[in-house]
Amino acid sequence: LVAGVDSSTQSTKIVVCDAETGEVVRTARAPHPDATEVHPDRWWEAYEQASRAGILDGVAALAVGGQQHGMVTLDEDDEVVREALLWNDTRSTGAARDLTAELGGVAAWVDAVGLVPVASFTVTKLRWLAEHEPDHAAQVERVVLPHDWMTGRILKQGNGFERWSTDRGDASGTGYWSAADGDYRLDLLERAFGRTVEVPEVLSPAQPAGRTAAGMLVAAGTGDNMGAALGLTLHPGDVVVSLGTSGTVFTPHRSALRDETGAIAGFADATGHHLPLMCTLNAARVLSAAASMIGVDLAELDRLALRAAPGAGGLSLLPYLDGERTPDLPDATGTLSGLTRSNATPENLARAAVEGMLCNLVAGVDALRAKDVEVGRIVLIGGAAASAAVRQVAPGLFRAPVVVPAPAEYVGVGAARQAAWALSGSQEPPTWTLEIDSEHAVPPGDEQAQADVVARYQDLVAHVHGR
Ligand code: XUL
Repeated sequence: LVAGVDSSTQSTKIVVCDAETGEVVRTARAPHPDATEVHPDRWWEAYEQASRAGILDGVAALAVGGQQHGMVTLDEDDEVVREALLWNDTRSTGAARDLTAELGGVAAWVDAVGLVPVASFTVTKLRWLAEHEPDHAAQVERVVLPHDWMTGRILKQGNGFERWSTDRGDASGTGYWSAADGDYRLDLLERAFGRTVEVPEVLSPAQPAGRTAAGMLVAAGTGDNMGAALGLTLHPGDVVVSLGTSGTVFTPHRSALRDETGAIAGFADATGHHLPLMCTLNAARVLSAAASMIGVDLAELDRLALRAAPGAGGLSLLPYLDGERTPDLPDATGTLSGLTRSNATPENLARAAVEGMLCNLVAGVDALRAKDVEVGRIVLIGGAAASAAVRQVAPGLFRAPVVVPAPAEYVGVGAARQAAWALSGSQEPPTWTLEIDSEHAVPPGDEQAQADVVARYQDLVAHVHGR
């Protein structure tokens, strides 16, 4: 047996799988505080809670998939200096703008590390710390990511800890590691923080981080999106659209992707290749917000949306309820446009919420197309992929067939697959298969109606936000 740990923004999940087949044998979960800054001890407590009752009995190897980008600062004794600032914390927006300008603009950053600083990325959080909490900054000896810290903590518990380590995938989300060069850019870390600090060693995909006292192998681990990619056993042409707390669009790619618009970050993956990715701050929770606005539950929101015609009678929703990261509009709020006395129905409002949430992510799929990346099919995952309305509306808006995998904790499954790979010592990860729940073709004949929905949405973004 192998185990994958998904240390995510809101909870810790442990998925135990058969190492040969990938079949999920048992799972457990425990919650975290739902916040944008959290003490890493809370993740550890959740891991301990989830791993009670013998969940790890008989497990030969384990890996951690963690929320990307979070800044975990450690002092000379490896004690946590302050709460970790997470990917969804936007206080370093100003630092992101300053760093972008200082290096000479967007293109300079894309050339250096394949991405443009936004508040999510670790490098901007280091700048914020140096500027706003000099006393804390002075104590920082090393900086690691959430999955690195969890991996180290698991090894420390069993005296198997030798050094802090990370992997290519998670390192590529810091803003001071280049996926194209496969190396740190410590000059950028120094530029942000004012001095260099120690960073974790970047392990290769199947390289173990260590062993616990009980002899369990602990694999390198990775970022949650890289973990999901591994858990979904993706093929060329598969573009994942994940509708969770964050919305992401990503695809496996053989080379480092350079997107000079900054919409797509040129991340590395957990297999030795690349994972170009776009991330938004608004996804599944747009639907819950719309449901509470209308005064219904999610099931009823779904039924209402399915009763409305495409285009929601002319209503468009820009779903920037939490500000937005892509497009880079941290202070934006949502906009409902096109309201008249005749279209103001719960059905149209529900439909506009589904269409608006998806149109925000169509931009990511189209940015991949603009880079000549094949979009063969959309693999739809995350909480909102359970919605029948989302499944029905998505193929037309994305202009590609959609498959919805059977519900599973794909980050945990991917981490477990990495653990099985490290255990096997082989060149390639084990062949696990993906179970598909449903398939949805592009509906014939209404291409124009769908294109109009997207065009009206894009016009509204341009009109309200000048993008
Ligand atoms: C990706 C990103 C999010 C977090 C969520 O760049 O910021 O998807 O990884 O956990």
